[in-house]
Amino acid sequence: MNSDPDPLVTFDGVSLGYGEFTVLRGIDLRVMPGQVVAMMGGSGSGKTTLLRAVTGQLAAQQGSIHVFGQDMSRLDGEPLRAVRQRMGVLFQAGALFTDLNVFENVAFPLREHTHISEQQILERVLEKLQAVGLRHAAHLRISEISGGMARRVALARAIVLEPELILYDEPFAGLDPISLGITAQLIRTMTDQLGCASILITHDVAESFSIADQVYLIGLGRLMAHGTPKELSASQDEYLQQFLQGRPDGPIGFHYPLTPAFERWLASRRAA
Ligand SMILES: Nc1ncnc2c1ncn2[C@@H]1O[C@H](COP(=O)(O)OP(=O)(O)O)[C@@H](O)[C@H]1O
Ligand SMILES: [Mg+2]
Repeated sequence: MNSDPDPLVTFDGVSLGYGEFTVLRGIDLRVMPGQVVAMMGGSGSGKTTLLRAVTGQLAAQQGSIHVFGQDMSRLDGEPLRAVRQRMGVLFQAGALFTDLNVFENVAFPLREHTHISEQQILERVLEKLQAVGLRHAAHLRISEISGGMARRVALARAIVLEPELILYDEPFAGLDPISLGITAQLIRTMTDQLGCASILITHDVAESFSIADQVYLIGLGRLMAHGTPKELSASQDEYLQQFLQGRPDGPIGFHYPLTPAFERWLASRRAA
């Protein structure tokens, strides 16, 4: 008898890119219910590209992607919308509606995707704001709150439909150390309280290692390492250690990779 739960997300031998440019090759990964999974890598390594593949905005060039047991290459239209509705996404620079107050920002997905009553919306939004410590800020305008508070409002909005999977794209960017620690702990407690899974895209080693169950490190166009924070910290791998310690000298390249698009652009400049 096999009592293991099914993975929420599975990548098997996946290549991802744009047109003829392949950003990542041979990616295998699993996200299990209840896990916080950190996807780490330097700037431009393909973290946001990975996230777009999970949400179905980007199709795999090779390999297969399954989300909630469904093959993403076969989904579009209504079935794809249904899968997306089971995910909460906190985009990089999580755009809030600046002309709406905190309450209306969090209520927005409920108004878009459910038919629950105003009274139920009020209770649900206050409950989510309570979870991020901002119940008493419900009436404030977005212009009246700090950057760290705005991140928490975006978090409350991402969880208001009680998703099974939450995706966070660089949720720590631009936060002061205290807001950063609070946001990291919130990601862990939200995951545990909702009983969902979280994919955390970040280059912040200390915070993600403190809350993640599994860490995937991408670089040089592929998966460089995978394991628990403890396993990765103990590894002797040179690339991994350079990334973890943030050293400028090591196997991680400084140069942006050469692409056919660049070569065509340069040839056209030279021909001009
Ligand atoms: N829409 C796009 N079209 C073409 N290339 C893109 C697009 N988005 C990202 N890229 C390229 O893909 C690579 C990975 O980008 P991205 O996934 O945004 O990296 P990260 O999020 O890790 O900083 C980069 O080389 C970037 O220039
Ligand atoms: Mg990115």
